[in-house]
Amino acid sequence: MQSRYSDVYGFWKRDPEDFWRRAAEAIDWFRPADRVFAPDQGVYGRWFPGAETNTCHNCLDRHIDAGRGDERALIYDSPMTGAKKFYSYGEVLAEVTALASVMQSLGIGKGDRVIIYMPMIPEAVFSMLACARIGAVHSVVFGGFAAHELATRIDDSEARLVLTASCGLEPGRTVAYKPLLDHAIELATAKPMHCLVVQRDELKAELKPGRDIDFAKAVAAEKAKGTVVACVPVKATDPLYVLYTSGTTGQPKGVVRDNGGHMVALHWSMRNLYGVKPGEVFWAASDIGWVVGHSYIVYGPLLAGNATVLFEGKPVGTPDAGTFWRVVSEHNVKVLFTAPTAFRAIRRDDPTGEHAAKYDLSGFRALFLAGERADPETIKWAEKVLNVPVIDHWWQTETGWPVAGNPVGLGLLPMKYGSPTVPMPGYEVEVLDDAGHPVPAGTLGNIVIKLPLPPGCLVSFWNADERFRHACLEEFPGYYKTADAGIVDDDGYIFVMARTDDIINCAGHRLSTGAIEEVCATHPDVAECAVIGIADALKGQIPCGFLVLKNNVSRETALIETEVVTLVRDEIGPVAAFKTVMVVQRLPKTRSGKILRGTMQKIADGMPWKMPATIDDPVILDEITAVLRAHGHGQALAS
Ligand code: COA
Ligand code: AMP
Repeated sequence: MQSRYSDVYGFWKRDPEDFWRRAAEAIDWFRPADRVFAPDQGVYGRWFPGAETNTCHNCLDRHIDAGRGDERALIYDSPMTGAKKFYSYGEVLAEVTALASVMQSLGIGKGDRVIIYMPMIPEAVFSMLACARIGAVHSVVFGGFAAHELATRIDDSEARLVLTASCGLEPGRTVAYKPLLDHAIELATAKPMHCLVVQRDELKAELKPGRDIDFAKAVAAEKAKGTVVACVPVKATDPLYVLYTSGTTGQPKGVVRDNGGHMVALHWSMRNLYGVKPGEVFWAASDIGWVVGHSYIVYGPLLAGNATVLFEGKPVGTPDAGTFWRVVSEHNVKVLFTAPTAFRAIRRDDPTGEHAAKYDLSGFRALFLAGERADPETIKWAEKVLNVPVIDHWWQTETGWPVAGNPVGLGLLPMKYGSPTVPMPGYEVEVLDDAGHPVPAGTLGNIVIKLPLPPGCLVSFWNADERFRHACLEEFPGYYKTADAGIVDDDGYIFVMARTDDIINCAGHRLSTGAIEEVCATHPDVAECAVIGIADALKGQIPCGFLVLKNNVSRETALIETEVVTLVRDEIGPVAAFKTVMVVQRLPKTRSGKILRGTMQKIADGMPWKMPATIDDPVILDEITAVLRAHGHGQALAS
């Protein structure tokens, strides 16, 4: 089939407002918008001002009203516990209204912030939708973050309620959430009034009288009362959620997503990019703590009337590298979305694809990869094993939905390995040099998106418009800075090569090396440190720390290294995957004192590197090379 992409993208470019007005017809509005776009509102303009709606209504009630209440909405599949549960749209609504009622009885209403710190259990999805139903603003915190990170998010959002569970389950260990939460609340200045705790069979939590409430009991009591909670009308421009993501400092950025534009964009993407029809099963094998989980485990599939899979497990080891194919065949998944690292893990354990061959994958149509660059080798392997299109697509927490992809729903375009293909309607992507001038096609530069950002993208950072302007809009006036470097080729295909800031992608998780440095620097023996991302065959990149100790330190360096690793695990969390650390005598710097992180990274990755002209003392690079080699990394290939 000839792709309709060019026509559709061209239509958007000619009349963006008409494009989004038509896309918005798929959504129920309680009050229509005054205008499609108001350039004079918000930081760079606002979508659908004046409109009133409710995201939960559009995810659940709208389909039920259309007679689809008995159709499957949520499939919970947990190889961690062996549990499988299936919920229809009507059943999800029953859970959500009861929980919404519990929250209202605790005094939570429109605009209040609610932290959701939960593993991949159905209650996590119900919690997000219950917040949306009553107009509360949720902020989901990934379970792999430790108390300090959780406290930062409680404080920044000034959350009044926390929805949590007694534990999460990682292969070989049970992660007790409650002690982490209790510690976070101790650390936080803003004290949530209540915590609703899902008590899991694997580990029960102690509840603090007066503050903590048993989630299941509270929900059951509301169900028994039969309370009906109507959807609270919210403005299209009101916040649906705040999702904190790594910024260039230890202070995470609270990405704010609105209700109206978000629904319009996600709904459009389900049909046109992912190519799924209502009633079909869509699976994003991610975590609700990440943007992928927000957009494509919860909101996108439910807005589009799909059944969504909530998978509590890993691509390998739960129990084996065939687990994805078991889920795809058992639940008739049409489209799967995951991170390339998951495929590298599967390939490592099952190089010939024997597991995939054991399952009936005849209904499976496409695999989408994002979260980090999809290396061509991994894509080619997946294509061979699965015999379906394998599509790299590119986006960020900030954008909320894909900037670039190969649109299955509009008809596939020819693919180029290493490229997430072309921009989606709404996004005009350009590449600029550091001075802000457009570079010729095929030239590496800063990837930027012309303002305004389309519906669904962040509207600002939580309570921090100025920080948003400064971080994302100031450097290239008239554009949003993606902080990704790459090229656009002669055919308009985008290639995303690297970050231009200190963010790294480790196993599909976004980490700030600056934030890890801040924690390392708090160790009493550390005088100075640098953390860089180094190449890793499985995780893409892992953080690697270089520590310079204070002059008077005589303790064993191995001990200090272990303590620093533990410190980062305790402060940021296991998700930081910070296990590679080495003590060095000095850090290489420019004459103005800037640490030469880029050169250190090249040395660590065994890439060719040039002696920086501004280096203060070139000998230090030899010292770094020697330490890296002693730790089994890097080869100096000076040119
Ligand atoms: N709660 C608590 N701890 C968690 C966690 C969670 N939700 N998620 C990860 N962790 C822990 C892991 O147990 C691990 O701990 P360890 O140091 O004790 O082993 C640590 O954080 C690092 O985790 P990770 O980097 O994910 O490595 P892994 O070895 O556990 O798994 C992969 C490797 C590739 C299998 C896994 O990272 C994966 O499936 N990645 C896909 C990521 C993804 O879906 N990203 C979303 C974008 S699409
Ligand atoms: P996150 O906000 O966690 O989704 O991470 C966003 C970042 O991940 C982007 O800015 C990119 O650096 C990287 N990323 C995501 N998808 C891709 C992709 N398909 N190709 C290259 N990099 C990607």
